[in-house]
Amino acid sequence: MNYYEESDLAIRHFPIAFHEWEEKARQRLAAGPFGYVHGGAGKGDTMLANRSIFDKYRLLPRICSDISERDLSITLLGRQLPSPILLAPIGVNSIFHREGELAVAKACAETGIPYILSNVSSQPMEKVAEVMGEAVRWFQLYPPIDPHLSRSFLDRAKKAGYSAIVVTVDSTMLGWRETDLRNAYLPFLEGHGMGNYFTDPVFLQKLDKSPEEDKIAAVKKALKEGNNTQFTWNSFEEIRKMTDLPLLLKGITHPEDARFAIKHGADGIIVSNHGGRQIDGAIGTLEALPGIVDVVRGEVPILLDSGIRRGADVMKAVALGATAVLIGRPYIYALAVAGRQGVMAVIQNIIAETELTLAISGRKSMKEVDSTLIVKIT
Ligand code: FNR
Repeated sequence: MNYYEESDLAIRHFPIAFHEWEEKARQRLAAGPFGYVHGGAGKGDTMLANRSIFDKYRLLPRICSDISERDLSITLLGRQLPSPILLAPIGVNSIFHREGELAVAKACAETGIPYILSNVSSQPMEKVAEVMGEAVRWFQLYPPIDPHLSRSFLDRAKKAGYSAIVVTVDSTMLGWRETDLRNAYLPFLEGHGMGNYFTDPVFLQKLDKSPEEDKIAAVKKALKEGNNTQFTWNSFEEIRKMTDLPLLLKGITHPEDARFAIKHGADGIIVSNHGGRQIDGAIGTLEALPGIVDVVRGEVPILLDSGIRRGADVMKAVALGATAVLIGRPYIYALAVAGRQGVMAVIQNIIAETELTLAISGRKSMKEVDSTLIVKIT
């Protein structure tokens, strides 16, 4: 399918490039919510590393091949997807747009892009599922301390048609986020991001008073559950036993952790450093990818996020061995600026640019994208 031929972006006058969406979102949002998405851990070095490594890898296009028919589709966990692109789990969307995750979910359903719903979404997962119909959706879990609560979230997700689970393990405590500290801003304390917690029967049973009666106490309880600093590989194995859905582990940058993830039952790996929000001074994810690809040896699919902004980035990650990538901040800026339509525009632009990059690099299908397409410059 030729997405760029179908899009009517020109007449909508939306921004095109990532930095334009970012700038418009900065103008539209209050300092707290904007800082929450824009900021990173500490000095922001990991965020910089996530981006600068993309410049060190360059595509090496071929010419004179028939590129009249192009196919961006991939197979992931036994399912055909229209492109190697998914939307990353990002919580508390009500601070960016009144419809929150519902707007994002609708955009995904309309474009056929899988949506990974955050555990800390503002909307309950069932409501999100409702607006998506049969469209592909995964659920992301921040494993709570109480295993009964994990099981409840996982059961709800399966019942609501989420077809895979992403367990995020790099955030059992929040990083040092200077922008948020400066703004004294944590959206959860205002009750955002509680859509799944406040509708969960196991969670509600833990409260002395309902969230309506004492919101702050309920939020604090939820945050305590989410700050699961005792989480280990054994805990991951317990989660593995709780669901028969495919399980992906998100937050891996060390090759040995990739091996452990497989050993303990992961069906997929997401190379991610949470967009540089957790630890400062860390390795960029694209830099980490080749080492992980080496040790995983094709046993499970590898996805990557943190720094994907455009088509060439998608192509570089796939050329280095990723099966697919997750888009994060770009869709949140678009959500803040223009809701569902904004998210759709960002998705369509990235897909269009990916398709063009594929074609102009002399390939007609994602199957033809491999290490021969990329070089690292010194
Ligand atoms: C995130 N991320 C995230 N990850 C996750 O597993 N669950 C979550 O609820 C959130 N929430 C969240 C909020 C905000 C505001 C941001 C920016 C990020 C991390 C996200 O899934 C992804 O890893 C990063 O966004 C990737 O980095 P870039 O490409 O957005 O810079």
